[in-house]
Amino acid sequence: MKTIVANYKMHLGVRESVALARGVLRTLRGGEVMPEIVVCPSYTALAEVRKIVARSHVQLGAQNVAAERAGAFTGEISAQQLVDVGCTHVIVGHSERRRMGESDADVNKKILLALDAGLTPILCVGEKAETQVRAALQGVSVSRKGVLCIAYEPEWAIGTGKSPAVTEVVEMHRRILATAVEMHVPAAQVQVLYGGSVDGENAYALLREPEVQGVLVGGASVKIGEFERVVAAAVEVLTAQS
Ligand code: PGA
Repeated sequence: MKTIVANYKMHLGVRESVALARGVLRTLRGGEVMPEIVVCPSYTALAEVRKIVARSHVQLGAQNVAAERAGAFTGEISAQQLVDVGCTHVIVGHSERRRMGESDADVNKKILLALDAGLTPILCVGEKAETQVRAALQGVSVSRKGVLCIAYEPEWAIGTGKSPAVTEVVEMHRRILATAVEMHVPAAQVQVLYGGSVDGENAYALLREPEVQGVLVGGASVKIGEFERVVAAAVEVLTAQS
């Protein structure tokens, strides 16, 4: 399986997010083999986007979650509240958040709470991938049916139009998977994704590698034509494999 995560970041309002989600559904229409697609709009658009993707193949994710279960945490949104609004996934530890002060300990708490609520975390790690995976997965146990996504996103590749050589990505993905296994998460329950300037141009070369189980797409996910090309690349890879 290949997973494509669309991270809309703080770019879009409710109406634009809904329009984009409709566009994503159109790109999938009539397809026989489909990648798993997760759209992650801002919190404010989750409820409306849910209405669009409900009963479709597309899943809903949030871009962040609180490091606390519930209580007096003004402005925070808990894992349970994300489930309540229809999320199945949540991005945790994105480098843009780590840069704002989110620590490895915060990321670990968020992963534990997300899994506990039944969400699939999309853990983001960067240059210090192995250390970050070890810290994030302290005490984690993924239920037998559960999945944990880990996105390898070198910071220098995010939003820059630059990306590492595919061979480097593959090597890093192997190391990330080995680290997750070392942290007692079975390999079959880990999906390692690549993120950082993924677009219609480079998606195929990345996705055709078995070690690249998906991509996390930022900038190219808010341009429907470009996102369509990323989806088409995944469909091509999956069709060749089936
Ligand atoms: P980008 O962002 O595709 O714009 O590089 C990826 C991300 O931040 O997840």
